[in-house]
Amino acid sequence: MQETDNESYLSSILGKEQLPSHLARAVIEEKLRNAILDGRIPSGTALRQQELATLFGVSRMPVREALRQLEAQSLLRVEPHKGAVVAPLVSEDAVDAYSLRLLLESEALRLSIPLLDEQDIAVAGAYIKMLEIETDYSQMGRLNRLFHMALYSKAPNRRLLRLVEDGLNEEERFLRFNLSAMGLGKLAQDDHWALLNAASEKAVDKAVDILERHLNRGVEAITRYLTASAHTVS
Ligand code: NI
Repeated sequence: MQETDNESYLSSILGKEQLPSHLARAVIEEKLRNAILDGRIPSGTALRQQELATLFGVSRMPVREALRQLEAQSLLRVEPHKGAVVAPLVSEDAVDAYSLRLLLESEALRLSIPLLDEQDIAVAGAYIKMLEIETDYSQMGRLNRLFHMALYSKAPNRRLLRLVEDGLNEEERFLRFNLSAMGLGKLAQDDHWALLNAASEKAVDKAVDILERHLNRGVEAITRYLTASAHTVS
């Protein structure tokens, strides 16, 4: 039976264990997030509340809450007749998402640069240096996000920063799988250094130009990815 197959498939990935009820939501959310981010549960996999509840020996309520959190992080989406399904690595509107990010991040950068101090510049620079020696792609995605956020961090508009961070989180998942394939590492690092120098010189327009070039590389990589996956049998 298919239900049983799916259940044993998930238990082979997530392990089967009895969770104490007060920890259930947080632990389930964490286990699922890690398995989705590192690709152990691929895009398109349906996550059924009852199966997960059985797997962890809990009621459906903490499972439902965990799934809702993951949906808010764009890792899952709810599809008619299927329920919660692991979201694709790149959504159809990825190019739109990048142009929106360019608007938001340019504004954050403009607002933040005049307020950045030496300490902020040093922190951002430390992330680039860590990126230089990091070889684990999931860590590289994370460091890239932290570097960018360090440059935007002084923007006084907190809501703007939250939107910016959502966009970077979305990109992080894509980067984990595609940094190597894109051969983006070196070029992206050149952009990062140029961005840091412009920020430390308080050259706002120059920094925004570099950011635009940097995000456009992302658009090109995603376009290549989508074109390549359109050729694979679906
Ligand atoms: Ni970057």
